Amino acid sequence: MKTLEAIKIGSKLLKEKKISSYILDAELLLSKVLNKSREEILINLDNKIDKKKISIFEGYLHRRSKNEPIAYILEEKEFWSKKFKVNRDTLIPRPETELLIDEILKLYKGKKISILDIGTGSGCIIISLLNYLKQSTGTGIDISKKAILIARENASKSKLYNRVKFSSKKIENIFNKKFDLIVSNPPYIERKDIKNLSEDIKRYEPRVALDGGNDGLDLIRKVIYKSKYILKIKGMLALEIGNEQIKKVSKLLIDNNFCIRKIIKDYKNNVRCVIAYFK
Ligand SMILES: C[S@@+](CC[C@H](N)C(=O)[O-])C[C@H]1O[C@@H](n2cnc3c(N)ncnc32)[C@H](O)[C@@H]1O
Repeated sequence: MKTLEAIKIGSKLLKEKKISSYILDAELLLSKVLNKSREEILINLDNKIDKKKISIFEGYLHRRSKNEPIAYILEEKEFWSKKFKVNRDTLIPRPETELLIDEILKLYKGKKISILDIGTGSGCIIISLLNYLKQSTGTGIDISKKAILIARENASKSKLYNRVKFSSKKIENIFNKKFDLIVSNPPYIERKDIKNLSEDIKRYEPRVALDGGNDGLDLIRKVIYKSKYILKIKGMLALEIGNEQIKKVSKLLIDNNFCIRKIIKDYKNNVRCVIAYFK
């Protein structure tokens, strides 16, 4: 079968299964099978594909037609212009989180700081920060051992070697160290709302990365309480939060001796991140 025909058949199948990005997804899946860039396959539409590869392509199409996120099938997601390995043990990094990185980098450009990333997942936050803050060091923790393995792989691709450590730990088990910056994109969805998330999220992304408890603030609360003890004076806490959580989170921060430095809105004008310093 030729490349053009494979793309046509693949995109038709995905369209029938109501996948909105059906053409792009078929092209991306085929480029994974052929281990070539999408651009490369699109300028070689007459190339023949052998049967073995077509059957791998069909397997990927089948997964995508069941709403499995394309990032999990491709096993990668671009974040802050670098490709990160992801799988079903890690949340897929989101564009809102990149907004948090932008603001943190404005505050710390050229500085040497120590960073703790709570709920590091694929490691996308801490690795992106350390890729830019060349003199800084960091620790990423996550309750999920399997996510930590992926974060380590991503760090070694970025050649961060001795500047980052990852450990599978709960936030409750961090002591004895103080940081200049604590950053976290915790699970913040209210438990009752998980059923309303789209199929690709609720069926495939790790529940522990989504479920923020009854009011969505379980881990956010713990991060704020813990940060009081492990942040240096004037240290910063940078949090991604859910839609409409800013009022409650601001109160928690102020009640715990933090002063809000910056709130960050997403492309839809919702407040999605907050940066505060410890007085
Ligand atoms: C929303 S995901 C964020 C992943 C990654 N930082 C990102 O932005 O793509 C939240 C992460 O917190 C982790 N997590 C949940 N509860 C935790 C806890 N009590 N202590 C540490 N990590 C936790 C989950 O395993 C998950 O990887």
